[in-house]
This record gives sequence, C-alpha cells and structure tokens, in this order.
Amino acid sequence: MMGSFIEFFALRENPFNITPDVDFFFMSSIHQEALASLEYLLETEEGFAVIVGEPGTGKTITIKKFLSQIPDNVEYAYILFPNLSPEEMFRAILEDFGIKIPENASKNRLFSLLRDFLIQKKKEGKKVFVIVDEAQNLPVETLEELRLLSNLETDKEKLLQIILLGQPELERKLNLPQLRQLKQRITVMYRLENLSKDEMVDYINYRLAKAGNSTVRISPKVYDAVYGYSGGNLRLINQLMERSLMSAFVKNKHQIDRQDVEEAASSLGFEKKGGKRWAVAGILIGVIITAAASGYYFYQSKNPSGETDLKNDGKYTESIKYGTVIPDRLNMRKNPELGSEVLYVLKKGSRVEILEEKDGWARVRFKNITGWVKKEYLEQQDEQRNAG
Ligand SMILES: Nc1ncnc2c1ncn2[C@@H]1O[C@H](COP(=O)(O)OP(=O)(O)OP(=O)(O)O)[C@@H](O)[C@H]1O
Ligand SMILES: [Mg+2]
Repeated sequence: MMGSFIEFFALRENPFNITPDVDFFFMSSIHQEALASLEYLLETEEGFAVIVGEPGTGKTITIKKFLSQIPDNVEYAYILFPNLSPEEMFRAILEDFGIKIPENASKNRLFSLLRDFLIQKKKEGKKVFVIVDEAQNLPVETLEELRLLSNLETDKEKLLQIILLGQPELERKLNLPQLRQLKQRITVMYRLENLSKDEMVDYINYRLAKAGNSTVRISPKVYDAVYGYSGGNLRLINQLMERSLMSAFVKNKHQIDRQDVEEAASSLGFEKKGGKRWAVAGILIGVIITAAASGYYFYQSKNPSGETDLKNDGKYTESIKYGTVIPDRLNMRKNPELGSEVLYVLKKGSRVEILEEKDGWARVRFKNITGWVKKEYLEQQDEQRNAG
C-alpha cells in the first residue's frame, strides 16, 4: 500500500515520513532561531544549552541538523532514552565516545575516566559536547551529576558543554529548588513552537518537492483543515498529510481535497483544535513509542548477547549472525573507532550479516559493503545453517 502511493504520485520516497531525517530539514523561522542559539555554543565555553518543546516540534531533527554541520574540532556524545542513574549516564557517555570501560568500574572510576578523556581532548584543541535527548526523563540526581561534570575545568577553561533537549516537563524539572545551581548555568534556553499557518504551507510543499513530487495537487482548503487538526505541530502535519495522500490514492485521484484530510484525521483519531484535545492523540502515541523504545533499549543494554564462537567450523551446522539496525541512521565505518571514515549510512531496519566482533564493535556486511558499526545499535539474531 505505502509503496504504491509513492509510485502513484511519482514520488521517490514518502514525503511525510515521521523519522527525523536531516535531508528533509525545513528551515522555518523557529528552527532557524533554535539552530542559531545552538551555534552560539560553538563560540563560548560556557555551560548548558536547553531546548524545550512539545512532542513533535522538531527537537530531535534540529539537533541532528546542528550536528551534521558542526566543525571538525567538535566531538560529541549523543544520549537518547536517558532514564539513567548517574552511573549509567557516565557509562553511556564513555561508550558513545568509544572509551573502553574496565569491568566493575565504580562510579568514581567512570568519572575519572571521563575527566581524563576530556583533558586529553582539550589538549588536542577539541571542543566536547554531551547531548541528551528526551532529557525530561533524566532523574534529578543525574541532572545534578551532569552539572558537576560540566564544572570540570583546567586553567579556568571548561572541558565540556552540555545540550539538553526535552519536552516542557524538562523546564519544570529545571525549576526545582534542588536544581537551582544547574539552572544558573544555563546560557541558552530556546522554546520550540508549532509553525504558523504560512510556514506550514511552505513546509508541506518543501517536503513534497524534496521527495520528488511531480503529480500531487493540493486544493487550498486542505491547508485550513491540516492546520485545524495539527495546530502547526510538525509531526501531526506529517501524519495527516501522509494519510491524506493515501486517501486520495485509494480514490485514484492526484488532487488532495479537504475530504481526504477529514478522513485522515478521523482515522488518526485527531480532533479539531478547539481546545488542546487535538494534541492528546499525538502525545499519547509519542509516549507509547518512547516507552516501548526505552524498554527495548534497556533490554538491549542489560542483556548483551553472549558471544558466539565465530571460529566454530562444525561440520554440519554453522551459526550465522545477523543484526537489524535499530536507530534511524547508523554509520558504517572503515575502522572500529568513532573518528574513522564513514563508508555507508545504514537505515533503520536494514539487515546486516555480522562477520566479526571486537570491543563493542561489529564488522558487518550489507549488500557488498563491509564496515564497522557500534554493536549496541544492532538487534542480533543467530541463524543455524547447514553447511557443506
Ligand atoms: N524543521 C523541520 N524540518 C523538517 N521536518 C521536521 C522539522 N521539524 C520537525 N519535523 C518533522 O516532524 C517530526 C517530529 O520531529 P522530531 O522528532 O524532531 O520532534 P521532537 O520535538 O524531537 O519530538 P519528541 O518530543 O516526541 O521527541 C520529524 O520526524 C520530522 O519528520
Ligand atoms: Mg525527539
């Protein structure tokens, strides 16, 4: 069905995919300001930046856009699903920087490993960011530890800057008296808002054009309806537009009419934005997805799959390992280290053959490209196959 609506409209891909794909980034006035405030961090040494916004306002895609264009002297760790204790947070940061963690390392040990790493980077003239997405889930205790981490300095130079992205609940958390000191260190605070109707119209057309549109026609009333149901929330706009395209497609017409949006809205359970009820469905969906995904992440990180013996060349069966890519995009690198050349970017759900594993990295084959990826971003499956 999906494939066919794409063909029907002569599109290259789904224009309203709800994954945060930087290629589809639309520079609205709001997102431009948010990016500018992040760019300010590149010029200062100071503290914390915070970006808050309701679900679906573009926090994740904005940080991805920012990261896609930062200078070479910046290194960063990106932490998602951060319902983490301070210790788990240190671990996640170290792992993202590709630092080997000794077994049974205490919290203090983790902290000092991180400090040493940061001092080393400072010597190399690097700037280091730690980015925490979905930061509304950070326990207060972990936020306080992040503040202590951000206090580290040599010769009055700070070693690290922290960017927190989260839903409005994050801002409420930061106002708690226990976090007073952290709040004082926030130098950038930006609140992402929904799009105005004019910008929504540009956004819709921009995404259609990006996806190679030639045959979609939109009747003017469509915009009123989409705005009425979405309130300019980007994720909701995408959901409505995708369903509307499908609705027109099943009726075999290239024009999207108001009626298609009405059907899309009712199938999504959206209500007209009279009060705030329109957003409830969207928020609930977001919460469910986030909860499911975090559960999944913890399952993965707390049950690292046992190593299978790759040199096992038993006569009758051999175990072939496959993995499925978990994040939206996953860099396949030439060598098992973070700075190494990116050979290919794997998309979410791609299935790769695992050839070798080493220090948290896996050498994988996809089509005929082989390269290294971080193992934790693969969901692994073993398959027995008859040999010979
Ligand atoms: N500036 C933008 N350009 C293009 N697409 C956007 C933009 N902002 C948001 N979107 C679209 O809306 C979707 C939701 O954005 P995103 O995932 O970044 O929201 P979020 O604020 O991180 O939401 P959540 O709080 O649920 O994580 C994105 O996947 C993307 O498809
Ligand atoms: Mg997000």
